[in-house]
Formats: sequence, structure tokens, C-alpha cells
Amino acid sequence: MLTIKRIFLCLILIACQLTLVRSAYAQVVIDSKASPRCLKVGGKPMLMLGGELSNSAATCKADIDSVLPRMAALGLNTVLVPAQWDLMEPKEGQFDFSLIDETIDVARQNGLKIVFLWFGAWKNSMSCYAPLWFKRDTKRFPRATTEAGKPLEIASAFSENVFEADKRAFVSLLNHIAARDSKEHTVVMIQVENEIGMLESARDHSSLAEKAYHSGQWRKFLHVINIDKRDSRFVDEVFQAYYNARYVERLAIEGKKVLDVPFYVNAALNSRGRKPGEYPSAGPLAHLFPIWKSVAPHISLCAPDIYDTGFKGWVAQYATSNNILFVPESRCCVNSGVRALYTFGEHQAVGFSPFAIDQSPETDTWHVRKAYGLMRQLSDLFYKGACAGRLMTWGLLLSQGDKERIIFDGDKVLTCRHYFTLPWDPRATNGEPWQEGGAVVVRLADDEYLIAGSGVVVSFQTVEEKQQEESVSIGEDGFAVSDAGSKEKSVISRTFSGHRVGIGYVDEVSIDASGVMKYVRRENGDQNHQGRHARIPVGEYKLLHVKLYKY
Ligand code: DGJ
Repeated sequence: MLTIKRIFLCLILIACQLTLVRSAYAQVVIDSKASPRCLKVGGKPMLMLGGELSNSAATCKADIDSVLPRMAALGLNTVLVPAQWDLMEPKEGQFDFSLIDETIDVARQNGLKIVFLWFGAWKNSMSCYAPLWFKRDTKRFPRATTEAGKPLEIASAFSENVFEADKRAFVSLLNHIAARDSKEHTVVMIQVENEIGMLESARDHSSLAEKAYHSGQWRKFLHVINIDKRDSRFVDEVFQAYYNARYVERLAIEGKKVLDVPFYVNAALNSRGRKPGEYPSAGPLAHLFPIWKSVAPHISLCAPDIYDTGFKGWVAQYATSNNILFVPESRCCVNSGVRALYTFGEHQAVGFSPFAIDQSPETDTWHVRKAYGLMRQLSDLFYKGACAGRLMTWGLLLSQGDKERIIFDGDKVLTCRHYFTLPWDPRATNGEPWQEGGAVVVRLADDEYLIAGSGVVVSFQTVEEKQQEESVSIGEDGFAVSDAGSKEKSVISRTFSGHRVGIGYVDEVSIDASGVMKYVRRENGDQNHQGRHARIPVGEYKLLHVKLYKY
């Protein structure tokens, strides 16, 4: 009797411990009601100032030991690291998590958070990260095939054996993390698979897939998704997306039982007018959101991997009322810093991350480090300081082909332009393409703004002044430009009525860890065009505090 009681007590204790592990993890959440929307770790908001490692950067302990400190030195607070199935389960059923442990330990030593990327059944559509025992056994783990019956290096999403093997490895990994990381919360998010999607064919035509095609729920989405139904590739994409989302959802349900952090999926984008199958068909693409959102509710967000032109357009597609923006991959380049600022400022993204940042030259990563330095200061202010709870921010991203952004803010108008629109910087006209300019603009009060960025110039007006605008081209000396060939015409002023906005002062400031703003230097005279604007040159990153007045 005593022994039965003891066993019973032990079982209760084990159950309690498991619940503790889970409830501790439930504290890593995406708070979509907070302002700004953010990831909360242990109740504290954090912006993921991230960077994704190149694919093979974390495949041995020595590399992990050297790469993570470098990432911390770049000012990242989060590193996205592949968790590779083949290295984790080289023999079926035998797991080795030593690389995962090393990543977590070294991340902690360097004050970093980790997002693990599950390179499981699919990585960039392909099944190249599946272990060899899985790859070889195509009978047990069947391949997707083209319409012509050609097998692809892509495991079939319709196979229960594929799902079970993938699930067992994924859940084992998450179990391991949960046990190792229940207190620290070093691991803050999990990416489920990597750029899931079909290439060469818009859908799987294997016998298992064919069975599903002729029956099932997926057809109802044909009425919801806006596609050209005369093109069978788009119909095939809807079918495949339904089953991809279902597969991922089943994986997420099992994963969440052991590790309750936000899960997300990333998309290879359907750029340059390509058709499904020419681009990875059926991934978490914006036009397929109705499927992904309804079929995979355990996935917190769908994320874009942005390598193509049109950065602003892509992020806008993924910052919707039902999808919080996170950019887990973007080309690492000299524009990465200002793109990060734009992403946070305009869309209140939870994170940003240039890809292969470990392999990128200092000329590119310098911009990321500078921009993240500004974002660290702003996030302290957002959450602890002056604007916590009543945040209004905008993002600027300006280029040679997109030079101006006008912000209407109550009775004020902010005219924001690329720095090179000021005609006196020789880099504006030397024939080189313009480096992008960008910033986060924060309204602190009716007459007070912060501008954090690089390569921008901002002037301020009242709405009534804007309506009565006089178009006069002004040179560096403040005199009207008397160039007869100038396209800008001077408009002779009529009667002016109403108020104007003037610049009280522009200060370069910094913000300390408790959200308190500190004076660095005043930007007056030539540095603010005798009170006409606030500006930050291309190649410099600054945080400006602008105080306005009306007259
Ligand atoms: C997107 C993938 O998600 C990454 O892992 C990587 O393969 C890049 N493309 C390209 O290098």
C-alpha cells in the first residue's frame, strides 16, 4: 500500500515538473496587443536585433565557439541558427544534441538569444538535410514526383512515414531544449522547416498526393484565394499549400506540447513574375495567407525572406492585421541598417535579420551594427521611457527612385527626403547609385520628435502652411537658386494665413538603459540649414531630438 502511495506521489511530482517546464516557456510570447507589438520573454519586451548564420556556420563546436561571440560584437541580441536533422540523428532513433547544447551555452555566455531553424524534412524545398538513412529509403519515405512521374529530391508531404520520422526528430529536439533551457529562455523562437515549397512542379503528383487531390477540404480554398483558375499551376499551388500547412500545423501541435515558444514559417518569395513551381510553390506566401492562417493556427507568423528588389513592397505584404512582421532573412548589404530601421519604425516588426551575416564584409555589417545601436536605445525608450504605451512611429526608406515621404501627423506635415536631395553633396551627382537612407521617426509629444537613422533630411510645416506652399529652390547658403534652367518655379506669395512651425532646436542625443534621454551635441547653423531642417548625412548614424514651436 505504502509503495503504491509512493509511486502515485512520484507520478504527481513528475507531472508538476513537466507543467513547470511548460508554463515557464509559455512566458515567451508574441504580444500582439502591446504597442509596439513585440516578443516578450519572461514578461519583458524585446526587439529581435537579429542575424542569421550562413547554412554551415554551426556544424561543429569550434565554429560555434568562434561565430557567436562575433555576432555579439556586431550588436545582435538574437542569432538565427540552423538545427540540422542529419547531424542530429545520423542513425535512426539515436540523437546527438551536442551542437544544440554548444549553441545554447555559448549564446548565454555572450548574452544572446537563439532562434533555431528546423532544417528537417525540407530546406529550400529540398530534403537535403534529412539523414542519409531517410534519403536512401525511398520506399518508406517516398518522394514527391512531377506530373511525368520523375521523383524529386523532395520528400512527399503526403506520406505518414515522412511525417512521423520528421516529427520524432523535431519533438526530440524541442524536448531537449525544454529540459536545458526552462529557466533562462535562451531559445526564443522556432522556425518550422525552411522555405517549404515545391520546385519543378507546382504540386506533388505521387500516388499518395493524387489520392488527396481528388477528395478533401482543400477545394474550398479555391473560392477564397484570388488566383487565375484557368492556369492549373495556381490551382495545384492551392492544393499543395493546404497540405503543406496541414503538415506544418501537425508538427507545431506536437512541438508546442513540449516547448511553448512562438513558432513561425519562412517563405521564398514569388518574385519577378514567376509561376508556381518556377518559384517554390505553396509556401507561406502572402496570397496564400487564407490557407496558412486557417489551417495552421499554431504558427504565430509567416515571414518573408527578402533577397529581391522592392523591399518596402514585400514587408508591406507581411505586415497585415493578421500577421505580425518578422524578417528572418534579408540580403546583407550596405542598406541593411536603414532597412532594419524602416522595418521596425514603419511596421513595428518583432525582429529583423540579415542572412549570412557571419560571412558578410565589415563594410556591410558596420551599417547593421550602427542601426542596431540606435534600435537598442529606442527600444529602451519604447518600453521603459517617455513613450511606453502611447507609441507613434514611422519608418523612412528612401532611395534614388523613391526620394520623398510625406508624413501627415495631426496638424503637422513632415517632409522627409533622401539626404542626397540636398544638392550640395558631391556623392549625389557623381554617377554612383545612391546608398539608401532611412530612419525611425518617433513622436514624443505634439512638438517633439526623435529621428534615428542615416541619410535623411526632415523639414516640418503646419498643414495650413503646406497648403499654401511656395515652391522656391534654396541653395546651401539659404539664397534662392537663380538658375534660369531650374525646373522649380518660384511662386509669388499671396496672403498667408495661419501658423508656421519652426525648429526650436535639434540635438543629437543618446538614450540610456533606463530610457532617459541624454544630450550629446547641438546641431544648429549650417548643420540644420539655419533652422530649416534636421538631417543625418549618408554614412553617419545619429539619434536626433527635434523640438518644434509655432509662430
Ligand atoms: C534562403 C534560405 O532560407 C537560406 O537558408 C539560404 O539558402 C538563402 N536562401 C540563400 O543563400
